[in-house]
Amino acid sequence: MREENKQKLERYRAEFENCLAQYLKEKNYKPEILGESMRYSLSLGGKRLRPVFMFACAEMLGGKIQDVKNFALALEMIHTYSLIHDDLPAMDNDDFRRGKPSNHKQFGEGQAILAGDALLNEGYEICFTECKKGRTYIKAAQYLCKNAGASGMVAGQAADLFYEGKEVGSAEVEFIIYNKTARMIMSALAVPAYMYGTDENIVSILAEFGKNLGFLFQITDDILDLSGDFKKLGKTVGKDVKEKKVSSVNVYGLEKCKKMADRYAEVCVALLNQLPFESGFFQDIVSFIRDREA
Ligand code: IPE
Ligand code: IPE
Ligand code: MG
Ligand code: MG
Ligand code: MG
Repeated sequence: MREENKQKLERYRAEFENCLAQYLKEKNYKPEILGESMRYSLSLGGKRLRPVFMFACAEMLGGKIQDVKNFALALEMIHTYSLIHDDLPAMDNDDFRRGKPSNHKQFGEGQAILAGDALLNEGYEICFTECKKGRTYIKAAQYLCKNAGASGMVAGQAADLFYEGKEVGSAEVEFIIYNKTARMIMSALAVPAYMYGTDENIVSILAEFGKNLGFLFQITDDILDLSGDFKKLGKTVGKDVKEKKVSSVNVYGLEKCKKMADRYAEVCVALLNQLPFESGFFQDIVSFIRDREA
């Protein structure tokens, strides 16, 4: 990644941490354990990629970080809830997340379920408040919620669980990756565009870019589950094979996944080249995701 874009990435992350700190400062959740468990999972440790993509997209479209900060908060809250629930014994049964014990290891399963529920609902409340700003905000919020719910991330997670241990092919693994991971990344890219009332053509290129970036992201997640480093990732490795998960690596094998990742990266770049904007930051993000170790 070029030096200027590394700095940009850090600036976006710092901006997001500020927004989040500001948001949480005004909250006084009761009982205390609820607030504590929500803050525990939300606080430092996540890569904040979805908010970063939203901020970068807003700026690419000629807007400002401030314009999308509330949608970025909502998206990261919904993402964080999905991770808390994903780690529960009833789902992936993972003991570590973001470099710390998983939420249920720290607070117990019941409180972890509720922390997830609370973050999901906070995310929706933020979206409803944004909707008061006008018609384009309603479209943006609706898109974000659709991608998170029963025809989006939740559907992907349900399929991920349902097919665990079963013989599956590319149709199932594609359904899972598209829904559980790509849809939330599509939100990061297309929500700012919907919000600004950007031309439909541009919105669909951005959504398509988000989809391909999402596939690239999940394939690298699956590769790292096999060959990554616990310290760098902040989460357990080696579980996809052990638990017979429908991961790209388990379905296609490691070598093919590396080639697929390269192909998704190429498609991402080709889509960026169709945009009438300067997209250097996202060009660097594509190779950053392809080569990530965390
Ligand atoms: C993990 O997402 C879940 C997947 C979709 C693979 P991230 O790797 O973005 O998790 P954080 O937010 O950085 O913890
Ligand atoms: C989870 O995918 C995607 C979510 C929607 C949470 P994984 O189960 O592969 O994510 P990690 O590896 O636990 O982060
Ligand atoms: Mg999972
Ligand atoms: Mg998991
Ligand atoms: Mg994984």
